[in-house]
Amino acid sequence: MSIVVTGAAGFIGSHVSKVLLARGETVIGIDDLNDYYDPALKQARLAQLTGQPGFSFHKLNIADHAAVVALFESQPAIDRVVHLAAQAGVRYSLTHPFPYIDANVTGHLAIMEGCRRLPKLTHLVYASSSSVYGGNTKLPFAVEDPVERPVSLYAATKRAGELMAHCYGHLYRLPMTGLRFFTVYGPWGRPDMSAYIFTKAIFEGKPIQVFNQGNMQRDFTYIDDIVAGVVAALDRPPPDTGGAPPHRVYNLGNHRSEDLLHFIEVIERSCNRKAEKIFEDMQPGDVQATYADIEASRRDLDFEPRTSIEEGLPRFVDWYRHYHGVSGEGG
Ligand SMILES: NC(=O)c1ccc[n+]([C@@H]2O[C@H](COP(=O)([O-])OP(=O)(O)OC[C@H]3O[C@@H](n4cnc5c(N)ncnc54)[C@H](O)[C@@H]3O)[C@@H](O)[C@H]2O)c1
Repeated sequence: MSIVVTGAAGFIGSHVSKVLLARGETVIGIDDLNDYYDPALKQARLAQLTGQPGFSFHKLNIADHAAVVALFESQPAIDRVVHLAAQAGVRYSLTHPFPYIDANVTGHLAIMEGCRRLPKLTHLVYASSSSVYGGNTKLPFAVEDPVERPVSLYAATKRAGELMAHCYGHLYRLPMTGLRFFTVYGPWGRPDMSAYIFTKAIFEGKPIQVFNQGNMQRDFTYIDDIVAGVVAALDRPPPDTGGAPPHRVYNLGNHRSEDLLHFIEVIERSCNRKAEKIFEDMQPGDVQATYADIEASRRDLDFEPRTSIEEGLPRFVDWYRHYHGVSGEGG
């Protein structure tokens, strides 16, 4: 039995791989180690996996569909795939639209084409995003809500991935689960996300930009809760009853919408320093609030997020201090 994890050197993919290896699975990691953010961080995450029994790694661009299909065909024992590789980030999609189509549309298609050729495939779990809820104002966001109003190209590609999955479920009966992650943070996190950006600026004594004058709410989800949700989903392929495609979509969020200013306060306390805040207008592509309805995830996946930002952010800041060699108590 072996599991492919795409984006294995990424934030969520490296944590998922670690947990799967710890329970004795064979993990085939794929990542192109691109420089969207510091590849040294990706290498450092990968270094924790390399050499562990059951782990192998392929440096591969998933948009290279011939290479993806050839790899999958060469490993017929693969029975599950966790597809997390993507061009992430809402703001970058405003200035660099093409990598989103390459990774999130062409790459997503390549992974499904590869899966179609696996004789033992039982489940493909892939990452979607809370950003698919776009301009929706009904809170919390529920999986049944209409999601036809994306406000960033990133969101549009993530929604496209869901629709493509539905189509492949219909055409080829591929069992698939899409997971809409809500703002994930924690150790080994992404440098382009708020927890990392704020912590870095605070330790470097630089100001932070607070968008929409601070009037933002986010459902921040701790990495361990996300990983538990991914693994729970992986273990529960949707049954194929012969009717609707065996494809489901779930929210993975903390089910708490936190004020951005409170989130910043908790980071300040964890860093033991105050942030200098510059209040700015709303950014194009951003949404004002996210809040996950997780009833379906609770019911079908036993998903139960356990980590508040008061617990999770200090753990992130501890990791940050250690990784970046920040010493002292701050001032
Ligand atoms: N972190 C969040 O808050 C969040 C929220 C919603 C959705 N997601 C989704 O979850 C998944 C994982 O996100 P993450 O936060 O770990 O991001 P990440 O950027 O840390 O990880 C993604 C990994 O995919 C790799 N990758 C990108 N394009 C590739 C390509 N063409 N071929 C091969 N590898 C490629 C990158 O090198 C990276 O290591 C993504 O699909 C992302 O869209 C994340």
